[in-house]
Amino acid sequence: MTASEIFPVPAELAASAHVNAARYQELYDRSLSDPEGYWGEVGQRLDWIKPYTEVKSTSFSGDVKIRWYEDGTLNVSANCLDRHLATRGDQVAILWEPDSPETPHRAITYREMHGEVCRLANVLKARGVKRGDRVTIYLPMIPEAAYAMLACARIGAVHSVVFGGFSPEALAGRIEDCGSACVITSDEGLRGGKPVPLKANADQALSTHAATAHVHTVLVVRHTGGKVEMTPGRDVWYDEECAKVAADCPPEEMSAEDPLFILYTSGSTGKPKGVLHSSGGYLVYAALTHELVFDYRPGEVYWCTADVGWVTGHSYIVYGPLANGATSLMFEGVPTYPDASRFWQAIDKHQVNIFYTAPTAIRALMREGDSPVTSTSRASLRLLGSVGEPINPEAWLWYHRVVGDGRCPIVDTWWQTETGGILISPLPGAMALKPGSATKPFFGIKPVIVDAEGVPLEGEAEGNLCIAESWPGQMRTIYGDHKRFVETYFSTYKGMYFTGDGCRRDADGYYWITGRVDDVVNVSGHRMGTAEVESALVAHPKVAEAAVVGYPHDIKGQGIYAYVTLMEGEEGSDALRAELAKWVRQEIGPIAVPDLLQFAPGLPKTRSGKIMRRILRKIAENDYANLGDISTLADPAVVQSLIDNRQNR
Ligand code: WT7
Repeated sequence: MTASEIFPVPAELAASAHVNAARYQELYDRSLSDPEGYWGEVGQRLDWIKPYTEVKSTSFSGDVKIRWYEDGTLNVSANCLDRHLATRGDQVAILWEPDSPETPHRAITYREMHGEVCRLANVLKARGVKRGDRVTIYLPMIPEAAYAMLACARIGAVHSVVFGGFSPEALAGRIEDCGSACVITSDEGLRGGKPVPLKANADQALSTHAATAHVHTVLVVRHTGGKVEMTPGRDVWYDEECAKVAADCPPEEMSAEDPLFILYTSGSTGKPKGVLHSSGGYLVYAALTHELVFDYRPGEVYWCTADVGWVTGHSYIVYGPLANGATSLMFEGVPTYPDASRFWQAIDKHQVNIFYTAPTAIRALMREGDSPVTSTSRASLRLLGSVGEPINPEAWLWYHRVVGDGRCPIVDTWWQTETGGILISPLPGAMALKPGSATKPFFGIKPVIVDAEGVPLEGEAEGNLCIAESWPGQMRTIYGDHKRFVETYFSTYKGMYFTGDGCRRDADGYYWITGRVDDVVNVSGHRMGTAEVESALVAHPKVAEAAVVGYPHDIKGQGIYAYVTLMEGEEGSDALRAELAKWVRQEIGPIAVPDLLQFAPGLPKTRSGKIMRRILRKIAENDYANLGDISTLADPAVVQSLIDNRQNR
């Protein structure tokens, strides 16, 4: 088996899948030549309160306007719950697998979930949360996280889920930016047997930041039973409040373009951006891609291992699967607790058919050898998926051969927080697979590879990846900053959405994502702006200056490499390294802590004072032969000193 091998569509799948090769070509062509017709028909998969008559109204130039199904009205939670009650009310909607295999799992049917969501919606209303208000959700991977999202959708509130791994500082920034009225959290989270003090973090975020005073309610889920402080008047227990209200709450009629959620993501500059997604177009796109990319069939058990704190959890644990009436498995824990068989044992336990995870998890598990996998059956598996970063062919082949027993196609799905759903991916009944390639664009997606000047390249080519046409799942704006939205995504290459990724198209028209071309690093599939880490570092009193770049990391894909210049009179030491790690953990969270930190007396700068990151990247990569032109540096000697002191562990 070599990485250049092509894996054809299994004959059985070509015959039975939702989309085969011929159908893909036909529908793809149609989706581009007649987007109104194509998306108009596809939109019918949802229940609309008032049907749309206008399908598409989008422009990537000027002020950039993106509207889909504009005059239609619907309710997202009714589409995910109510409409399934008659046909599959007693089918399991969410299968919850706890952190420890010793703890009993939970199976929540659509009917039960409907009741839970209605109660919570009524609690939110009783606490004065209104249509259009923002609600911050800071929860572990428990069913209440999905209830909370859908309860917001039910009353027309806009949720902002903040990953439980973010620090109080990071949480406060996100609460403040969108002006949340309410925070939903739990006493603690649990990951790999260790408690995560979510409520205490929320308390700290709210007490140390005056600008979060707009939060009038904190709803606390009792999860571990850990002891927490309750602030009278502001803090209430989720279970106690839910017991006081009715299990029925009529869904609010929302416009297709009303916002459904905000999700913060890192960019190459400044603070995290509040990516805003719509109700109608987003749900159409999440549901359609979930059904076709995973070839989902009624009754199947589908498991996406992402956290609901990321967009993957939004689109492919909650919204897409539930809109399709699927059984979606939600896992609280981590891949290696109690041991490296955890995923595979859970697959056997719940008879999972479709499994969707990240390359970083695959690489980490691959390191443990085959036996934790081969000691399990996995006979229920039929399809595997990958997301978050480029998957190296070695990991792809192991995933295919060992996890999938050579029998399950892998869908390598490329997309972004901004895109709402998958844009480039195999459809498993239609595309032969090449390990490491995300293969072909989804319906309606028109990828364009441009050179540095923005000239579109035809045929075999490598350059920067743009998307030429809008699709319904596309983000609509950056919350509160439409100007930044236009500048970030539509100004580099006029009239096109710029993804920030590099990409190659091969002779067969297959796409190979080569990674970010901006100052964003992808650490274990988590996106981190280097500027954010730098500003956290320079906020430390002993740090004068910091420059952060990514470097190749065996497990994480990319690691964070920080060059730190200290204040006059300060000495670099291992103790200070540990102190800075702790500092970054507090400012942002564990995912932002540098893997390697080098104390540098000076950074390579141009005479005008601009840090030459290209050189820093090369040094971090251990690639000294290709430093390029360093003659424009103010002090070229700095480079040798950086090389001499490069960190290796
Ligand atoms: C960035 C987006 C989309 C959900 C998870 C991450 C990288 C994502 C792939 C893939 C190569 C990928 C890109 C992209 N990425 N999936 N299959 N192959 N690269 O969402 O945090 O918004 O990050 O992740 O660089 O731009 P995100």
